[in-house]
Amino acid sequence: MFNGFEDLQGKSAIVTGGATLIGAAVVRALHQAGVKVMVADIDAAGGQALADALGEGVRFRATDITDDAQVGACVAEAAAQHGGVHILVNLACSYLDNGIESPRADWLAALDVNLVSAVAMLQAVRPHFREAGGGAVVNFTSISSGVAQTGRWLYPVSKAAMVQLTRSMAMDLAGEGVRVNSVSPGWTWSAIMNQLTEGDRAKTDRVAAPFHMLRRVGDPQEVANVVLFLCSGLASFVTGADYACDGGYSAMGPESHEPAIPKLMA
Ligand SMILES: NC(=O)c1ccc[n+]([C@@H]2O[C@H](COP(=O)([O-])OP(=O)(O)OC[C@H]3O[C@@H](n4cnc5c(N)ncnc54)[C@H](O)[C@@H]3O)[C@@H](O)[C@H]2O)c1
Repeated sequence: MFNGFEDLQGKSAIVTGGATLIGAAVVRALHQAGVKVMVADIDAAGGQALADALGEGVRFRATDITDDAQVGACVAEAAAQHGGVHILVNLACSYLDNGIESPRADWLAALDVNLVSAVAMLQAVRPHFREAGGGAVVNFTSISSGVAQTGRWLYPVSKAAMVQLTRSMAMDLAGEGVRVNSVSPGWTWSAIMNQLTEGDRAKTDRVAAPFHMLRRVGDPQEVANVVLFLCSGLASFVTGADYACDGGYSAMGPESHEPAIPKLMA
C-alpha cells in the first residue's frame, strides 16, 4: 500500500498553537506519521491534555511565542528530548482585531503573535535545521490574506504578510535544504466556531455554504493532511508556495454558486 510519509518517521517537529482544534489535528497527524512533536502554546491546560492523550512522542511546553527566552527554551527542550528539530509549524494566532478602531498597541500585539513570532521561531530552530542538513516549515495563512472582510484589518494584514514572509523565508533558506510553505485554510471547524454556534456544526456549514464551492466548512483533519504533505518528502520540490485548503473559497468569484447571466434575461 502506498503511504509516502515514511521519511517522517523519527523526525522532530514543533507546532505552535498546537492546543487548539486545528493545531491538535496537525499534532495528531504528525504523531501518526511517527514524528515526535513538541506542542508550544500558552494554553497550558489544553496543551497538556493533548500531550497526555497522545502519550509517548508528544510533549507540551507552555510557551508564549512573543517571548524570545520562552521560544529559546522550547526549541532547546524539543531538540534535547526529540533528537534535534526537523519541522516547524507556525500555527498559533491572535484574532485581536477591531478594524479601523484598533489602536497601535493592538496592531503591534497582533502582528507580534501572527507574524514576528514565526520569524523568532525560525531563528531559534535554524541551528538545528543546519545540524540536520535541512528542514521543513509550514506557516499558517488564511483566505483572509487575499480579500477584504468587514471590520477586519489586523488579522488579514498579518496573514497577507505571512504569505510574503513564506516566500522570503523559502528564498533565503533554500540553500540550507529548508523548504518553507504556507497553508491557507478556508473556514474550518475550530474553537471559535464551536463557541459562537454552541457546537452547531450544521449551522456553521449552512453559513459557510454560499462562499465555499464545497458548501461547508473544512475539518481540522483536512487542513492537517495538507500540512503533513508539505512536511513530507512527497513535497520535496515544493517551496515558497501557499497551499489553499479552502473548499474552493479563493477560486470562487462574487457570482458565488448562482448562474449570473440568466439574471440579465430575467
Ligand atoms: N478557524 C478558521 O476557520 C481558520 C481559517 C483560516 C486560517 N486559520 C488559521 O489556522 C490557525 C489556527 O486557527 P484557530 O481558529 O484554530 O485558532 P485558535 O484561536 O483557536 O487557536 C490559536 C492558538 O494559538 C495559541 N496562542 C495564541 N497566542 C499565543 C502565544 N502568544 N504564544 C503561543 N500560543 C499562542 C492559542 O492559545 C490557541 O491555542 C491560525 O493560524 C489561523 O489564522 C483558521
